[in-house]
Amino acid sequence: MDFKKSQMVHTIFLLLAVLTCLSSSLPSEYSIVGNDFSELLSDDRIAEIFQQWRERHQKAYKHVEEAERRFANFKRNLKYIIEKTGKETALRHRVGLNKFADLSNEEFRELYLSKVKKPISKRSINADDRSQRSLQSCDAPSSLDWRKKGAVTAVKDQGDCGSCWSFSTTGAIEGINAIVTSDLISLSEQELVDCDSTNYGCEGGYMDYAFEWVVSNGGIDTEANYPYTGVDGTCNTTKEEIKVVSIDGYTDVDETDSALLCAAVQQPISVGMDGSALDFQLYTGGIYDGDCSDDPDDIDHAVLIVGYGSENGDDYWIVKNSWGTSWGLEGYFYIKRNTDLPYGVCAINAMASYPTKEASAPSPTSPPSPPSPPAPPPPPTNTSAPSPQPTTK
Ligand SMILES: *[C@@H]1O[C@H](CO)[C@@H](O)[C@H](O)[C@H]1NC(C)=O
Ligand SMILES: *[C@@H]1O[C@H](CO)[C@@H](O)[C@H](O)[C@H]1NC(C)=O
Repeated sequence: MDFKKSQMVHTIFLLLAVLTCLSSSLPSEYSIVGNDFSELLSDDRIAEIFQQWRERHQKAYKHVEEAERRFANFKRNLKYIIEKTGKETALRHRVGLNKFADLSNEEFRELYLSKVKKPISKRSINADDRSQRSLQSCDAPSSLDWRKKGAVTAVKDQGDCGSCWSFSTTGAIEGINAIVTSDLISLSEQELVDCDSTNYGCEGGYMDYAFEWVVSNGGIDTEANYPYTGVDGTCNTTKEEIKVVSIDGYTDVDETDSALLCAAVQQPISVGMDGSALDFQLYTGGIYDGDCSDDPDDIDHAVLIVGYGSENGDDYWIVKNSWGTSWGLEGYFYIKRNTDLPYGVCAINAMASYPTKEASAPSPTSPPSPPSPPAPPPPPTNTSAPSPQPTTK
């Protein structure tokens, strides 16, 4: 009896923790061993938690059938979260009721993943036609966070469109542009989705082709001027001519941890990964380590490495995602680095690349028509203040 009561107390603590997405760990003594999920939570209680979650994430459903289906998914995910959290005391990452808690893993994959095409071959182009090889060794500080250096815009949201590759691309260009020019300018994913015919819009694409497209277009427009709609649209050729930020080329990074580190010391890096696991869907914090494929052929998502660090002997990357701020750690996640895996955890080393931009690069030429490109955001500071920008969905 008493035992059961204390179990309930722990369960309530757990639910508070997952609902508010606390970043602190659960008490280590927490355990639901020997208890069946259905004994712990009545359907009424789960319905109540579901209602709170819906309000928090402003989830509206079209009809009763959808609401019922979502509730069934939610219940299944909640069960998984409770079991996973109770079972694995050494779990490095946490799962919880984030914005994707009402999706089955199949729906999640369908909506957000399987959308990064793997490059046929690795390429590297530069303005002066000299191929650069990424560095293999370098002096790297023990930790680095480009957000604190004013090189990372606020977290964006790709919505129900497989355009992760365009967010990874703009993030990397925003980064190198801020580093070289000291202007952090949020750039247009929609222009890539609509105008870059070497990629597939909401059906996917990859970053090297997008970098190449930006090079050959002579630059890219701002987020403010060509805002995100989250659907495949017709290219606005007037806006396509507004080239606010240009790059000179791009470089692929070797698959080793040291090469990726040396690249990340220079600037934020575009990477592909396998993001299809239920644990990744429901990730709410900690260092992600496994529960994914490390085979490059399984890469189905694109993100942006914006720094790295270490905690209790575990080295990790700091990664910006494009699923809004109510996923993960305010839209970011940590993933383990320096493993024995040939392509890194979730194959995150396998498809890394970055745009190049020389400080002396000629300023992009705009066509005569538009009077002037939109004003750049406020002066850069190193306080990682996000630049004002429209919410992307
Ligand atoms: C394209 O952009 C221009 C300039 O912002 C705008 O005036 C025009 O209406 C847009 N065209 C379409 C088809 O949306
Ligand atoms: C700002 O950047 C400068 C130069 O990179 C650095 O020395 C300084 O510590 C930074 N300040 C903060 C608050 O990060």
